[in-house]
Amino acid sequence: MTNPHPQSDRQADTRAISLLNEMTLHEKIGQLQQVNGNGGQVTEHLRSQIKQGLVGSVINEVNADALAEVQRIAIEESRLGIPLLIGRDVIHGFRTIFPIPLGQAASWCEETIKQGAEIAATEASIVGINWTFAPMIDITRDPRWGRIAECLGEDPVLNSRLTAAMISGFQGEDLSSRGSLAACAKHFAGYGYTESGKDYHYANISENELRNVVLPPFKTAVEASVATFMSSFSDLNGIPASASEWLMQDILRDEWQFKGMVVSDWGSIKDLSTHGLTANDKESAYESASAGIDMEMVSTCYQNHFIELMEENKLSEAQLDSMVLRILRLKFQLGLFDDKGKTKKAERFDHLGNDEFLAAAKNAAVKSCVLLQNNTLKNGKKTLPLNVADTSSIAVIGPLADDAYEQMGTWIFDGDEALSISVSSAIKETLKDNTQVKFAKGVSTSRCNKHDGFAEAIECAKDADQVVMVLGEESILSGEAHCRSDISLPGAQEALVDAIAELGKPIVLVIMAGRPLTIASITNKVDAILYAWHPGTMGGPAIRDLLFGYEVPSGKLPVTFPRVIGQIPIYYSQKNSGRPATDSNFVHQNDIPLRAAQTSLGMAANHLDVHFTPLYPFGFGLSYAEFEYKNLELSCQKITSKAPITVSVEVFNKSDIDADEIVQLYIRDLVGNVTRPIKELKHFKRVSIKAKSSKKVEMTLSAKDLGFYGRDNTFLVESGQFHLWVGADSSSGLFAEFVLEA
Ligand code: GLC
Repeated sequence: MTNPHPQSDRQADTRAISLLNEMTLHEKIGQLQQVNGNGGQVTEHLRSQIKQGLVGSVINEVNADALAEVQRIAIEESRLGIPLLIGRDVIHGFRTIFPIPLGQAASWCEETIKQGAEIAATEASIVGINWTFAPMIDITRDPRWGRIAECLGEDPVLNSRLTAAMISGFQGEDLSSRGSLAACAKHFAGYGYTESGKDYHYANISENELRNVVLPPFKTAVEASVATFMSSFSDLNGIPASASEWLMQDILRDEWQFKGMVVSDWGSIKDLSTHGLTANDKESAYESASAGIDMEMVSTCYQNHFIELMEENKLSEAQLDSMVLRILRLKFQLGLFDDKGKTKKAERFDHLGNDEFLAAAKNAAVKSCVLLQNNTLKNGKKTLPLNVADTSSIAVIGPLADDAYEQMGTWIFDGDEALSISVSSAIKETLKDNTQVKFAKGVSTSRCNKHDGFAEAIECAKDADQVVMVLGEESILSGEAHCRSDISLPGAQEALVDAIAELGKPIVLVIMAGRPLTIASITNKVDAILYAWHPGTMGGPAIRDLLFGYEVPSGKLPVTFPRVIGQIPIYYSQKNSGRPATDSNFVHQNDIPLRAAQTSLGMAANHLDVHFTPLYPFGFGLSYAEFEYKNLELSCQKITSKAPITVSVEVFNKSDIDADEIVQLYIRDLVGNVTRPIKELKHFKRVSIKAKSSKKVEMTLSAKDLGFYGRDNTFLVESGQFHLWVGADSSSGLFAEFVLEA
């Protein structure tokens, strides 16, 4: 683990130890407690608690005056003057909201994601926040789960690289500087595999799957020097993560040597008795403290029972000291004891949501949108980009077309709706002179099942040259505790598409959602589909610029899109199984002859009623440009532990526009100590290629890149035959083979 500031860590350790030696038992217990804010009010109770040294952190307070006051009380009125950690869910922006993390992941752009986190940290720290509960790096393959919106996709390699970028953005080069926040890798671990996609549920995951798929992003977070971890609510293999010694001690402390602080999730220590792991709060305190959860978020099991457990010799003061040291160490690393202004009210707030930040949010939204379909029309032209010169009237239809709030997405406590610009407003802003822009919602909300708004929408579209529909889910339909058993377009939106399609005009469909939706039933009714996720404050201008060709779509899917919900879980890196589905053995149920013999159908791993492929594969995304991949070369056909190989490919931009392409490198390990996926992403590069020109893209593949955890759950690099693809998504690409001699 490389730590960019080892010197300050040693100093922090020394200072924390000397402070610890002055603390009373109650002051030590106080550091373990995170309390909830009171919406800008510093209550007498909170004053008293802080003054007595019984509070280590405050969560969900964002009022700058209140934060300056609670810090002042902690520093000036408590006996030892220990400042507070001020935590907040700054997940994808603070005042300026960036696309939801799943959308940001579709940019496959570390630079963009780092910049977004930097801006979020700058804005949040201005009001006095010094700790964010992000990045959320749970791997999931279940879009029914509302929290897929917050994650960085289904793949450990993509997720890991974006995790490191986000942590770097939040924490900066020096945690003690004013604009830095302590980041928090969450939710450790296994939350994303929650059964049936319901939140707070349980997951049964083999250790091998955990080590090969679920844990790598968390390991990357440790290597990226993340300051804190958060334990998950969820039950992993019968033990809720907030009481899992295997996760918090064996993996996190012993194997990965993580030195930072671990905070529980909201009440997740108290929840242990609800899970049925413990009988009461005292047992819960024991289980979590023994596992290694340092700070308790809002519930008070530690506060109420830690001393009692020590008196019963169930917990020791040495255990308490190690927990407190990690908390104090973080406060020193953050510079809260030094007069860096981080505990005082800032002089100015005017740059919250400034033009520079808004421009960055727009850039992120442009890169996050994924073009899924772009039909060629009867006139031989592509549906998109729309030609403004040929447009004298445009109809903008749908419940999300003019909703500056909903486009910001989930987890936007502190977003400023006044800064947010909707699609409809952005289009009007651009076309105000020579084009008539008409707007109709068609349905009152995405969930509305009534058709009484259809007539207005049809009237709006009837005489328009262009029709843009903006459909999807309101932000409340994804995010924490907002899971759906049916992930099609809610309400009467599909019927609205049918009604508008009756007009026989080209339809551009923009979808705003916090997850992949099952949209297979409408793809043949529209001519172009731009998937915008929830694009944030500048979603409207970003989408407008993409629709009119001022920007070129470049996003690629960070998650697989199922055809139907019954395919879930479906993801590109599936195992082969003993009877893989192929086109030759797939028989659709509609084609099964009557009285077909049991063995007459393809005996394979598929469903009878849907093709075994996804609607859109991981890594897929179209551009207005056309790229041709040529000349795939390997510097050598053999990789050894001492000699990596360089994989190079030429990407030719055949079009007359400059554009970005995200080049992806996948491998397949044909035979393994445990079965291996049919494809695994190992590298990717976003490259900008000028019109009518080529770019040579090189990526290095090492033996370690090909390692995995085997049947004894130790990491191994195993000799063998490999297939390799380099291309535009997980279902295509130029092919090569090589061997690995470990
Ligand atoms: C929530 C979430 C967690 C969040 C925390 C504080 O319940 O699970 O991701 O950081 O509580 O809001």
